[in-house]
Amino acid sequence: MSDTADGLLTEQAVRFGVHAADRYDAVRQCGELLVAVGAVTQDYVPAMREREDEISTHIGAGVAIPHSTAAGKKYVRRDALAVLVLAEPVDWGEGEQVSLCVAIAALGDRHLDILAELAEVLMDPDRAEQLHLATTASEVIRLLQPAPKGRERMKAAVFHGPGDVRIEEVPEPTPAAGEVKLRVLACSMCGTDLKIFRSGHFRIAPPRVMGHEIAGEIVEIGAGVEGWALGDRVQVIAAIPDGTCEECTRGHQTVCLNQESMGYQYEGGFAEFMVVPPSVLAVDGMNRIPEGVGADEASVTEPLACVLNGQELAGVGPGDVVAVFGAGPIGCLHVRLARSRGADRIIMIEVNRDRLQLAADLVHPDDTVCAEDGDIIEQVRKLTDGRGVDVVITATAAGAAQEQGLQIAAPRARVSFFGGLPKDKPTITLDSNLVHYRELTIVGANGSSPAHNARALELIASGEVPVKDLISVRLPLERVLDGLDIVAKGEAIKVTIEP
Ligand SMILES: NC(=O)c1ccc[n+]([C@@H]2O[C@H](COP(=O)([O-])OP(=O)(O)OC[C@H]3O[C@@H](n4cnc5c(N)ncnc54)[C@H](O)[C@@H]3O)[C@@H](O)[C@H]2O)c1
Ligand SMILES: [Zn+2]
Repeated sequence: MSDTADGLLTEQAVRFGVHAADRYDAVRQCGELLVAVGAVTQDYVPAMREREDEISTHIGAGVAIPHSTAAGKKYVRRDALAVLVLAEPVDWGEGEQVSLCVAIAALGDRHLDILAELAEVLMDPDRAEQLHLATTASEVIRLLQPAPKGRERMKAAVFHGPGDVRIEEVPEPTPAAGEVKLRVLACSMCGTDLKIFRSGHFRIAPPRVMGHEIAGEIVEIGAGVEGWALGDRVQVIAAIPDGTCEECTRGHQTVCLNQESMGYQYEGGFAEFMVVPPSVLAVDGMNRIPEGVGADEASVTEPLACVLNGQELAGVGPGDVVAVFGAGPIGCLHVRLARSRGADRIIMIEVNRDRLQLAADLVHPDDTVCAEDGDIIEQVRKLTDGRGVDVVITATAAGAAQEQGLQIAAPRARVSFFGGLPKDKPTITLDSNLVHYRELTIVGANGSSPAHNARALELIASGEVPVKDLISVRLPLERVLDGLDIVAKGEAIKVTIEP
């Protein structure tokens, strides 16, 4: 057995072809075998029968695990197991047939650990079947060994360096104290994944599992973690504020000085399993997915949270005429969120007509403006009777959009530089007098806080911001590279990996 039960079962304590008249006879013979190997004194045997009377030790799959009452523990000399392989099944009451008995002798509370381990082993139907068919003691001992924890292999998309992402087998993670292990149900892709794939990131030391738009199901809970249960479906933040620095203390978690990220300092979600680190749990960065919300939708929470941060900073609200540059997934989310916040009129602006059409058919802006139809500034002026728009959001990495955005801004407008510019070309030409005379406000936007994630998930759950239809491509883990290619070509709105 593993750490808990290692060496508990010896070959002398395994008997084959045992005939038992009934359930109690089987339990008695289990006890006698434990006596024979010196694990218990004779008084342990009636205590096992007493336990069997109180509660059936049948655990399913034709297996019973006889042990004693609490009072019988004083007859235990050392922890041990004994196994009877019965010649013919014995009626264990209520029609249950048992053909394998695994008897336990354990001091103190250790029988609980041993029981839990045995149950885990025997719940694997293949293992239980092989045990029933075993013919040698060594085979039985081997089959009762729990699978070594943390050494299972899983598939993951691992970043090894710029241009080098491999789908490979890696060790399945084990949650340490304070951590939670998830089976990844859905992990969406974004432009950042593409950027990492192409150029790497100074905060990523390869090899690293990619993916940060994460939704999964809790499959293991590390020591000391409270408030979560196995089977809970959860969404995980991507950017992790420390919660304690100067900026966090001021309530500005999106600009935390010590920010970390899933898929950067921690293994990400393009994997079958992953571990949620304590730093995420410390800032309430894991949200329960409400019933009725798919894991696929929940994986879009994180980008929507960023969009929410952007619109809060830009103060999007009722009565606003909003212009969104860029018709990618982020632009689509901006249109949907602006609508739910009561914007009066939404104009979507693109350079690529196909993308604009694809997006507009989904999110229905009031107007679309395509660069292919002529000067963007002229088109927007015409649409707004020369006034311009109250809010500009640049959901693209194009400096031209920022410059044009200022040109179409109405007096007192707010301009969100939502998309960052390429590192090697971060400057634009800004007509400062536009800002001055029109009293414009220019705001940035950098990711999202845990609270934004919680609210974004609520917006999805309540139907205020639908996202399911924005997922246009779903791929298995093996096809992460195809997904990156689709993102690169702009052929889809959202690409979601479903491991
Ligand atoms: N602030 C944040 O927290 C945050 C979060 C996520 C993404 N982003 C940024 O948002 C931007 C959009 O993300 P995405 O995933 O939708 O990207 P995307 O590449 O899928 O979409 C951008 C779109 O902008 C269009 N475009 C290019 N130049 C344009 C121009 N001059 N005018 C109008 N449209 C133009 C492209 O054709 C493309 O369809 C990216 O720059 C991304 O880095 C910011
Ligand atoms: Zn901080």
